[in-house]
Amino acid sequence: MSIHSSNIKRVTTHVLQEMKTKDEKISMLTGYDFSMAKIIDSAGVDIILVGDSASNVMAGHETTLPITLDQMIYHASSVIRAVERALVVVDLPFGTYQGNSKEALSSAIRIMKESGAHAVKLEGGSEILESINRILSAGIPVMGHLGLTPQSIYKFGTYVVRAKEDEEAEKLIEDAKLLEEAGCFAIVLEKIPANLATRVAQTVKIPVIGIGAGNGVDGQVLVVHDMLGITHEFSPRFLRRYHNLYSEMKGAFETYIKDVKSKDFPNEKEQY
Ligand code: KIV
Repeated sequence: MSIHSSNIKRVTTHVLQEMKTKDEKISMLTGYDFSMAKIIDSAGVDIILVGDSASNVMAGHETTLPITLDQMIYHASSVIRAVERALVVVDLPFGTYQGNSKEALSSAIRIMKESGAHAVKLEGGSEILESINRILSAGIPVMGHLGLTPQSIYKFGTYVVRAKEDEEAEKLIEDAKLLEEAGCFAIVLEKIPANLATRVAQTVKIPVIGIGAGNGVDGQVLVVHDMLGITHEFSPRFLRRYHNLYSEMKGAFETYIKDVKSKDFPNEKEQY
């Protein structure tokens, strides 16, 4: 029995599997801090991903490589404190799981223990299978990530669409099957042709969540700063913007500065 009482039904890996079976689409967004995660969770998103994209949108790095395990744990614990319903998945950052499976397990355990997250996500297929198996055998749910895997950006050279050629497409399908057989509860497919992503979603029984992977998958994920239009200079074709917060926020900051300079703020009602 839980000591926490809440009427909210939490999203679990089993709920996500049921959603796939019922052909109910899964919604996923990134989240990195308490205030934003609270809004995202109250809107009813199914999964919040504490993505290593925090390295880009929160810390201003060019790639996801520099973010550390301690920094991911900081972001994840802030999100966990806000969330009542969504499943919270945390990226294992670059360099914390590729070396060997023992290190992978201790990284995953640190995330689960120190942040209270519900699952971890790792980038890659056959080459990291041993790490995935070891994490799963400790009872930690694992989400896979195939296609464009940003932690390998220096191997790819660019952020262009992956798996357009047959050889890479076939390897991706084999990797998806391996992840399913290993026991991953879901797979993210990033920036690959829509027909290939559809084929993967029809081949494996676990949920497949796409970003730039078309509409034939079981759910969608976007980086929250991108869909809100905070990162206004980033405009890939797959991105739907639901707001232009860059302009709206900049306008609010400009008005505040004007009000301070003109001595309009604070007025009599705004003081003690
Ligand atoms: O780090 C991240 O935001 C991600 C998503 C793009 C899937 O991995």
